[in-house]
Amino acid sequence: MSAFDPAVFSRNSRFEIDHLTIGGIAASDLAEQFGTPLFVVDEADFKERAASWKSALESAFGENAGSVYYAAKSFISKEIARWVDVVGIGLDVCSGGELAVAEAVNFPAEKIELHGNNKSESEIRQAISYGVKTIVVDSFAEIERVERIAKESGKVQRVLIRVTPGVEAHTHEFISTAHEDVKFGFSLASGAAWDAIAAIRNEPALQLVGLHSHIGSQIFQSEGFAAAAGKLIGLLARYRDTYGQELPELDLGGGYGIAYIPGENTLDPFEVLKELAVVVTSECERAKIAVPQISIEPGRAIVGPTTTTLYTVGTTKEVALDEGLSRRYVAVDGGMSDNIRPALYGAEYLAIIANRLPLGPTCNTRIVGKHCESGDILIREINLSADVAPGDLLAIPATGAYGRSMASNYNHLPRPAVIAVSSGVARIIVRRELIADLLALEI
Ligand code: LLP
Repeated sequence: MSAFDPAVFSRNSRFEIDHLTIGGIAASDLAEQFGTPLFVVDEADFKERAASWKSALESAFGENAGSVYYAAKSFISKEIARWVDVVGIGLDVCSGGELAVAEAVNFPAEKIELHGNNKSESEIRQAISYGVKTIVVDSFAEIERVERIAKESGKVQRVLIRVTPGVEAHTHEFISTAHEDVKFGFSLASGAAWDAIAAIRNEPALQLVGLHSHIGSQIFQSEGFAAAAGKLIGLLARYRDTYGQELPELDLGGGYGIAYIPGENTLDPFEVLKELAVVVTSECERAKIAVPQISIEPGRAIVGPTTTTLYTVGTTKEVALDEGLSRRYVAVDGGMSDNIRPALYGAEYLAIIANRLPLGPTCNTRIVGKHCESGDILIREINLSADVAPGDLLAIPATGAYGRSMASNYNHLPRPAVIAVSSGVARIIVRRELIADLLALEI
């Protein structure tokens, strides 16, 4: 269905009589002022969600609450990094580029974690010289690199080991990461994780502070997180048995699921972390170790629901299907270049007409982009009002995570602007790319 659903739109979105407003501003005014396609971020919603993950972690784990690190890969810009800092949570970066954004706003280095399965020497150097709190090491080659660069810099670098605990998360294969046959981390089952511990302990320029796992993304069953936690706690206990000390930190990654379409529910941070705390506490009791400091890295769950993409309808056409059925194609002015998720993962979205009240019956509709590719589909099937016409404004909610951050310039489309809205005020946080920006890259 194509009706406004508050469970899927950002918290300060409303359908007021005959049009959509976000942060107190009519979507059509935003489109007119800033053009389309347009990413509209509900600033207050972002800050509230970030803050509630922080309070939820604190309330679930009390004195054992470590940090919430916002996963920059889901979407980062300088302004977003400032909001993250204002809320008082940390930042997880996984490239020199993401770190550069943090550096550009003087994001506190002692609240940054660096990830990545193939960090370059220059990225490691950048991170160590900025003084990031933690590097999450992912391979034996990297242990050697981080150690060498830390030593050269005269520093002792705190590291976590990324462990692949062999847990199958129930999500799309491409976004599930903790079963054995993946590029990430040290396998628990093969003994690689245990060997990594010994390798790091041998290096005086590295300080091993704990273990990390991230089992995948867009996960709704808390059993996956609990299973991974249980396995890592087993490894912590083995460490204590062998070395006679306890590792103080456990980072359980991100991956908390959100609602994209009506009927789905965004995970409640308080509920899911409370459940996790029960498991962590009992597993630690069983293993007779102290509960470590627990950290998490939500990305999608913070930014995903806060953002709506606005598109202008350009063309529509009717296609006859078998058995007397038909489908209406509605083409918008963006597509797979600003949202690759439907093409890549079969992700589903909702769309509504944002500029007016839809009239009359609905019909079987496919919402497509403007790219030269039949797979350029934003919504494969939706019942949209049959009167949708060129010039109408469509709003697709829950596009904050992995939308703009995975955007491309396919067909030389400039990437959309991102604007923040709050209490009736809209401002650009990332300006629209221009064709001139693209041409400027060419020699
Ligand atoms: N921590 C680590 C180590 C990660 O690799 C990720 C995501 C996160 C945290 C944040 O996960 P989140 O809370 O956002 O689910 N492009 C895919 C998602 C890929 C996730 C990659 N890693 C998508 O659009 O669904």
